[in-house]
Amino acid sequence: MSDLNGKTALITGAASGIGRASALAFAREGAAVMCADLNEPDAKETAERIRSGGGSAAALALDVTDETAVRDALQATIDQLGGLDVVFNNAGVGDASWERTIQVNLTGVFYGLVHSTALLAERGGGSVISTASIAGLVGLVTGVPREMPVEGGFLAYVASKHGVVGMTKQFALRYARKGVRVNAVAPGYIETPMTEMIRDDGPGQAGIESLHPMGRLGQPEEIAEAALFLASERASFVTGVTLPVDGGYTAR
Ligand SMILES: NC(=O)c1ccc[n+]([C@@H]2O[C@H](COP(=O)([O-])OP(=O)(O)OC[C@H]3O[C@@H](n4cnc5c(N)ncnc54)[C@H](O)[C@@H]3O)[C@@H](O)[C@H]2O)c1
Repeated sequence: MSDLNGKTALITGAASGIGRASALAFAREGAAVMCADLNEPDAKETAERIRSGGGSAAALALDVTDETAVRDALQATIDQLGGLDVVFNNAGVGDASWERTIQVNLTGVFYGLVHSTALLAERGGGSVISTASIAGLVGLVTGVPREMPVEGGFLAYVASKHGVVGMTKQFALRYARKGVRVNAVAPGYIETPMTEMIRDDGPGQAGIESLHPMGRLGQPEEIAEAALFLASERASFVTGVTLPVDGGYTAR
């Protein structure tokens, strides 16, 4: 299977967790991958892993809250890797203030969507994916595993991710006849650095596992596979959806 042969992808948040797993999966399927992240050393490490496996990759420092930097990162992908077909707006924060959460998870994804869709349409088409969350589809149960301050934490996260789901629909409609598909993935709780603190706290791992009908957390590679599907031509008639990848969390 080489679903992304000859394609070029930009992935944000590629230094860690879901972004890193996706960069590795996209490269495995033949894509050249630009690994972008606030954490440049670890983004470089992701790119290095791809190159050492025989793939094509580069890395750059990117703060998704900086609109000019987002535009420059899209252009840098074209300049350095020779094209642009897939953009994965994945960077996000999990436990920050209201302002920071909205800035990164909502405004950062907005910048990614507005500039990538326009550029891809101009270039003849492509696929854009964003990382929403189960928190973009339902509210989160507070108190399990621990109480979060309502003005930040869970509330800001839920608001930002519901926004990502809405923007996904709106951009999909806007670009439906312009060759650009726009979708999102909605992970349940995934074993990445983002959930480390929650997993180590209170009812911890077992408490979170019990929220998922499948009785476990997801792995970043399981989200990468869903993003890969949405990125590829296998999803050629799919646009405007937010695909839950959550062990049944939102089925209840
Ligand atoms: N882990 C989960 O349980 C889970 C569940 C649902 C959704 N998500 C979402 O998945 C995405 C990836 O999270 P993860 O679990 O891999 O977490 P992670 O912490 O492992 O990775 C997030 C990456 O985003 C980067 N980042 C943060 N702010 C940035 C910014 N302003 N500009 C550029 N990069 C920035 C970080 O440096 C980090 O490398 C996020 O959008 C998160 O909200 C995660």
